[in-house]
Amino acid sequence: MDRYPAELFPGVETRERMAPIKPALRRLLTLLPAVFLLAIVVAGCSESAQSTFDPKGPVADRQLSLFWLIFWMAAAVFIVVEVALLYSIYKYRRRSGQDDDQLPEQIHGNTKLELTWTIIPFFLLLAIAVPTYITIADQHSPPTGNKLLDMTGADNAPITVDVIGHQWWWEFRYPELGITTANQMHVPTNTVINMNLISTDVIHSFWVPKLGGKTDVIPGRDNTMWWIASEEGVFEGQCAELCGVAHGQMKFIVVAHDAEGYQAWVDGQLQPPAPVVTDAERRGQNVFAMKGCVLCHTATGQDAFGVQEGRAAGFEQGSGSFPGPNLTHFASRDTFAGAIIDRSEGNLRSWLRNPDDVKPGNRMSELAPVYNDRTLRLSSEEIDDLIAYLQSREPSFN
Ligand code: CUA
Repeated sequence: MDRYPAELFPGVETRERMAPIKPALRRLLTLLPAVFLLAIVVAGCSESAQSTFDPKGPVADRQLSLFWLIFWMAAAVFIVVEVALLYSIYKYRRRSGQDDDQLPEQIHGNTKLELTWTIIPFFLLLAIAVPTYITIADQHSPPTGNKLLDMTGADNAPITVDVIGHQWWWEFRYPELGITTANQMHVPTNTVINMNLISTDVIHSFWVPKLGGKTDVIPGRDNTMWWIASEEGVFEGQCAELCGVAHGQMKFIVVAHDAEGYQAWVDGQLQPPAPVVTDAERRGQNVFAMKGCVLCHTATGQDAFGVQEGRAAGFEQGSGSFPGPNLTHFASRDTFAGAIIDRSEGNLRSWLRNPDDVKPGNRMSELAPVYNDRTLRLSSEEIDDLIAYLQSREPSFN
């Protein structure tokens, strides 16, 4: 039986008629492994620490639903367009023996067709625009009353966190509690977290993929955002706006606790720092004071109002200061240096020996006298003592 009847392919011999399908089919088949590979890669996304496909709160969840709606509509449009395209390419391909001047039938001015391809996109765009607008309006301000109860099953009072982007680390202040911490944000679950996004240097972008979309942190502009963590866990975040040399190492983590866990963290942070006990810790404390660490870091309690701003102003005037992370309860955090490494002794030693090896471009290498003045360099004994001191900086009741 002739699979390609002569009526459909006038003027073409059977052998020629059959030939074109084979390379085309082969090409399609070679694409299949690539498609499978892509599917596997995309499936892998949901497992990663910074995946928007694994939402852990109602804001991220709703944003993901919107993404899927738009994705499947776009996928349907893609398939319809590509099938029509491939069909036309095959059906109306040029055939041997065809006259060079012979044009296909022209359809310009076909009212029926032009109405069709105007009206269909109109409804497609409407189907995307309406849910998009509803989601944006709905997420503009945090829920209260029954809406909050629907979302969280609890009537917890919201908490406020000032999120401050610095080159290249994150500071978190809890104005209602008087707590300042760095690179590690603690929140209670099923509670609205209202964030004031502040920058004193350049534009950063605050993003916790599993909890919500990103919002820019812009100097001189009061941006805000909110989200809710529905379950306990550690969620990774990342600066999502190119902000200088160490932009890629401007990470942070969000730790979501149940109510008791959060209260325990708050109680700890409100404690004075642990007393300096051992000789090594005492020597380390001395190094910390005498070698200029105190110009940028506070280790004796919460930063008083305006201290960090004063350091930032000093930086602009070239005084050699810079707002550095508060180290009062340094040992209560799991990570440091923009949350890129664990707070282990080995990592601390590498960091204190040469911070630039760990996080190229960081301000400490640039500004601290111990790193830019050869005569003031830290000896390995001083580094050991500093490690002992820093590793003892935790809430005093521990
Ligand atoms: Cu801050 Cu990128």
